[in-house]
Amino acid sequence: ADALKIGIAGLGTVGSSLVRILGERANELARTCGRPITITAVSARDKSRDRGVDLSAIQWFDSAVEMANTADIDVFVELMGGAEGAADQSVRAALSRGLHVVTANKALLARCGVELAVMAEEKGALLNYEAAVAGGIPVIKALRESLTGNTVSRVYGIMNGTCNYILTRMEKEGLSFEACLKEAQHLGYAEADPTFDIEGNDTAHKLAILTTLAFGTQIAADEIYLEGISNISIEDIQAAADLGYRIKLLGVALRTDTGIEQRVHPTMVPHDSVIAQVDGVTNAVAIESDILGELLMVGPGAGGNATASAVLGDIADIAKSRPGAQRVPVLGNPASTLAPYTQAQ
Ligand code: NAP
Ligand code: HSE
Repeated sequence: ADALKIGIAGLGTVGSSLVRILGERANELARTCGRPITITAVSARDKSRDRGVDLSAIQWFDSAVEMANTADIDVFVELMGGAEGAADQSVRAALSRGLHVVTANKALLARCGVELAVMAEEKGALLNYEAAVAGGIPVIKALRESLTGNTVSRVYGIMNGTCNYILTRMEKEGLSFEACLKEAQHLGYAEADPTFDIEGNDTAHKLAILTTLAFGTQIAADEIYLEGISNISIEDIQAAADLGYRIKLLGVALRTDTGIEQRVHPTMVPHDSVIAQVDGVTNAVAIESDILGELLMVGPGAGGNATASAVLGDIADIAKSRPGAQRVPVLGNPASTLAPYTQAQ
């Protein structure tokens, strides 16, 4: 079958992980998707930078916009970041050509995601963005697909891995805020400008996307009440602990009689609650809806692998979306892979 040709713009933490995984899992992906997924074009700022992956057989573009406009690709994967500039221009260029787009860029989507979704629809293209909210947790799929027909009353959770990592390390290791932020940056969790993480903007971007999907309202990231964690001290964390609470940066959106209330701020949560147990880079998103009840999803919220996993799922969805593509799971021979059953198991 014809390969799905993808172009990746951005080869940093997420982009280079994606290139590596696509290489390592090529055969498995081709079997599962019913056709190979091939990287035919890439773009980043610095061609000479070693990214730990072999790019020698792939066409290089200095300009992501040029790649979106001219490359021989079916899918444009945007992993550069930024609400404006190259990300915005290249995604628009790709959609104008009718290319499918996959992005992890919550800042862009929080600014103009609905407009981009309309562009995609008009062109018969898919716009997939699972990695934009809560890293590897499939919360976009849950809201777009699994909960169809439900009326959502509340969405809330820990949606920024950097902040949760910092708060956890400050509490458990007694490290300073600055030292923990440096660690999060080193581990590839933080945004290029980490003030977006620590001042709550990144959580607000994610919340705005979830609010639009959950409640069918226009995106309104600027209307979210916003308070970050940069003023939280070890003394605050200790005082909360003495009272039986832990401090978490939560994003909350709920349906009220007067509209949708949205807020992002450090919150004291009872230490025996599920959300209080969510440590480190892990995220947790709860969705309350009338048919299903409460759904709580917990999982890796940032980092190269977690994010690339969600991007890969979006690409695979596109590969499988054509008629005749493989829908049944590809099965091995259980007898050859499973150990025999014994009483002790
Ligand atoms: P990153 O490590 O800073 O990488 C950004 C990449 O984009 C770099 O390769 C950079 O090129 C390239 N780039 C920047 N501006 C460009 C331009 N004008 N033209 C071409 N290439 C350009 O960022 P990241 O952490 O991978 O994040 C990428 C996106 O995923 C962002 O939208 C971020 O919010 C989102 N995201 C990240 C995570 C995470 O855990 N890191 C999780 C979820 C979502 P050079 O390498 O040459 O400088
Ligand atoms: N900087 C973000 C975070 C990346 O720490 O959660 C994942 O969106």
